Amino acid sequence: MPLPTRILGSQGLHVSAIGLGCMGMSQSYGPADEREAIATIHRAIELGVTFFDTAEIYGPFTNEQLLGRALRGRRGQVSIATKFGWRTTADHSESLDITPAGLDSRPEHVREAVDGSLRRLGTDYVDLLYQHRVDPAVPIEDVVGVMADLVRAGKARYIGLSEAGEQNIRRAHAVHPITALQSEYSLWERNLEPAIIPLLRELGIGLVPFSPLGRGFLTGAVRRAEEYPADDFRHGDPRYEGANFDANMRAAATVRDMAANKGATPAQIALAWLLHKGDDIVPIPGTKRRVYLEENVAAANIELSAAEMRELDAALPPGTVAGPRYNEGQMAFVDR
Ligand SMILES: NC(=O)c1ccc[n+]([C@@H]2O[C@H](COP(=O)([O-])OP(=O)(O)OC[C@H]3O[C@@H](n4cnc5c(N)ncnc54)[C@H](OP(=O)(O)O)[C@@H]3O)[C@@H](O)[C@H]2O)c1
Repeated sequence: MPLPTRILGSQGLHVSAIGLGCMGMSQSYGPADEREAIATIHRAIELGVTFFDTAEIYGPFTNEQLLGRALRGRRGQVSIATKFGWRTTADHSESLDITPAGLDSRPEHVREAVDGSLRRLGTDYVDLLYQHRVDPAVPIEDVVGVMADLVRAGKARYIGLSEAGEQNIRRAHAVHPITALQSEYSLWERNLEPAIIPLLRELGIGLVPFSPLGRGFLTGAVRRAEEYPADDFRHGDPRYEGANFDANMRAAATVRDMAANKGATPAQIALAWLLHKGDDIVPIPGTKRRVYLEENVAAANIELSAAEMRELDAALPPGTVAGPRYNEGQMAFVDR
């Protein structure tokens, strides 16, 4: 069955119902084989994936370069989403400063950052341009003002925010239509349900859940925090640590059991749950290998009944998952 498409936001951005998160091809989830990563991007296009997610900070820089190389000659077939928002060195060649002081959405910096992204991606426009984190030092109106200029200049087709809170979403949308919010949302991370999702629906903004597989945890194919090397994100992920790991594995058993009963995989159940939460939702599972990609894309064909949705909703409700989604330092960037 061909991969269906969905419309993100009210401005007409059509993308495949499941996108591909490319971050892990350059960081966070252990070593990557560049040839397999590029083959994964090409296979995704064959399977009907048209929505590719990257950011200036991934690598830094190398993830956009990789995606740009992989999409050479295929640019017209896909939509690219990238993000800005971190301080860089003047010549864009050194590492980014990813401390809280390193947030930088000053308009002049945003313009430079986007030019750098376009250069690395080998394109003259991106389809969706996100502010990666709200910068408390720069009013959101000024940030969205410059993003709107970039839309008028043809460098971005649509704009979005990531991990923005209610007030900033409203203020941003009043300046220029926001097409999508990209924030963490999955079976085990439901912080968006009480206020943010209703607000997105009120304003006609699409939702792009990141880490839709719980950074891999919901698939069950993971190890304990201490078994990952220090440069792997999971090494410092509170939900992968000690007693939290055991409690969360027990809680995720419902996902695994339902997968076994339906002849599916846990990753497919986690993605199908998101797709059934609304047709304004487009998850971007991350993988650097074709075998997982093929499995994840096939999740679009999985039907969940209302009873199955209720069972999944009740499996990992807010408050039962052990450990915060980010450590304190990472949480400091989240706008609430
Ligand atoms: N806006 C933001 O602040 C933000 C933050 C985080 C992520 N993101 C975006 O969201 C994307 C997805 O999030 P994420 O990568 O953090 O988390 P995720 O998609 O929840 O999980 C990725 C992990 O799951 C593994 N995996 C993928 N499919 C699998 C399958 N079918 N079976 C078993 N394991 C599977 C991957 O393995 P392999 O790597 O070995 O393939 C990787 O370790 C990222 O790529 C990035 O583009 C955005």
